[in-house]
Amino acid sequence: MASATEIEAMRRAIAVAEAALGIPNPNPAVGAVVLDAAGQVVAEGATTAIGGPHAEVVALAAAGERARGGTVVVTLEPCNHEGRTGPCTAAIVAAGVARVIYSVDDPHDSAAGGSAQLRANGVEVESGLLVEEAKRDLEPWLVAAGQRRPYVTWKYAATLDGRTAAADGTSRWITGPGARADVHVVRSRSDAVVVGIGTVLADDPELTVRGVDVGRQPLRVVVDTDARTPADARVLSAVAPTVVAVADDAAPERVAALRATSAEVLSLPRGDGGLDLAALLAALYSRERYLLLLEGGARLAAGFVARGFVDRVVAYIAPALLGCGAPVVADLGVTSIDAAIRLSPKDLTFLDGDVRIIAASTPRSGG
Ligand SMILES: NC(=O)c1ccc[n+]([C@@H]2O[C@H](COP(=O)([O-])OP(=O)(O)OC[C@H]3O[C@@H](n4cnc5c(N)ncnc54)[C@H](OP(=O)(O)O)[C@@H]3O)[C@@H](O)[C@H]2O)c1
Repeated sequence: MASATEIEAMRRAIAVAEAALGIPNPNPAVGAVVLDAAGQVVAEGATTAIGGPHAEVVALAAAGERARGGTVVVTLEPCNHEGRTGPCTAAIVAAGVARVIYSVDDPHDSAAGGSAQLRANGVEVESGLLVEEAKRDLEPWLVAAGQRRPYVTWKYAATLDGRTAAADGTSRWITGPGARADVHVVRSRSDAVVVGIGTVLADDPELTVRGVDVGRQPLRVVVDTDARTPADARVLSAVAPTVVAVADDAAPERVAALRATSAEVLSLPRGDGGLDLAALLAALYSRERYLLLLEGGARLAAGFVARGFVDRVVAYIAPALLGCGAPVVADLGVTSIDAAIRLSPKDLTFLDGDVRIIAASTPRSGG
């Protein structure tokens, strides 16, 4: 049974994790707090950028000898494997910690078993403390691990009548500076940003994170069946890496032109509406791109939605009307209100003059 101090420490660990969101990608943002043997908070830490120490190890280093006989409070089960860093369980045992309280079980076969390993070394272990709160930020990473495909967040900006561009093709800017700044925060927490070739040709976006301190830029991914991405497209700028996914039977001369750029060309089988999106997701998952931000446009979004690949929607809605112009999403084959794809509302936030709505594709525990 956790004490009031330990519950408070877990709240702090969750806050520390939230402040680190995106920094350790593709690792999850985890927070840890160390209490000394008398139950006083002596240190805290969050998982650092890839290859760096995990939250428990950061907090234990800050606590030093004061951790001996104390308690580690951490949002995710301490890992028990030799990955890019050593096992956290070994660091906890070496520090002489008497008790560990964690919130969420590690879903990975390779990392799990941390609690068993700790118990085998005489450490008292408790789990499940504030699990719903801790899962709020860990959810995408947990879903990706469970489904063995990236967690997909589909983000768009639209008018109140669901238009993402005007009839003349102009789309800058539908929303105001507050919403646009928020997009960069959302992007900074992603492992990859995905767009269709239609968006590249229409808007020439750069798709980088700007105005947010980010450990690494997300991978940019262009879904481009026939290798039509222009060599001077801004999405190929040197600021961030880019993958252009093309059909494995795309015209060789076009593919060769793309290979001459800085982009990595990924050849995939064709599927309905263009490329096989399941194959795309599998390829990105194998590159440890677990958190995907789908940024349009309408046809690619329809492809993802129709296949059940959208886990969450982040919609920035401007209170403006266009009456005509590009829709948020192309035809989904839904012809009756009974067949509408319904989502669960999760959050509603006012951003200056706009509104951000977050909805999840299915109700998930803690999501
Ligand atoms: N406001 C916003 O949030 C926002 C964001 C992004 C875009 N937009 C707007 O959206 C418009 C572009 O949308 P769009 O629908 O023309 O283009 P898109 O969705 O960006 O790209 C569609 C293209 O992606 C390729 N693709 C490959 N595999 C696919 C698959 N399995 N399913 C679907 N597409 C696949 C296809 O290219 P091939 O035809 O070569 O096979 C398809 O034509 C622009 O007007 C842009 O301004 C708005």
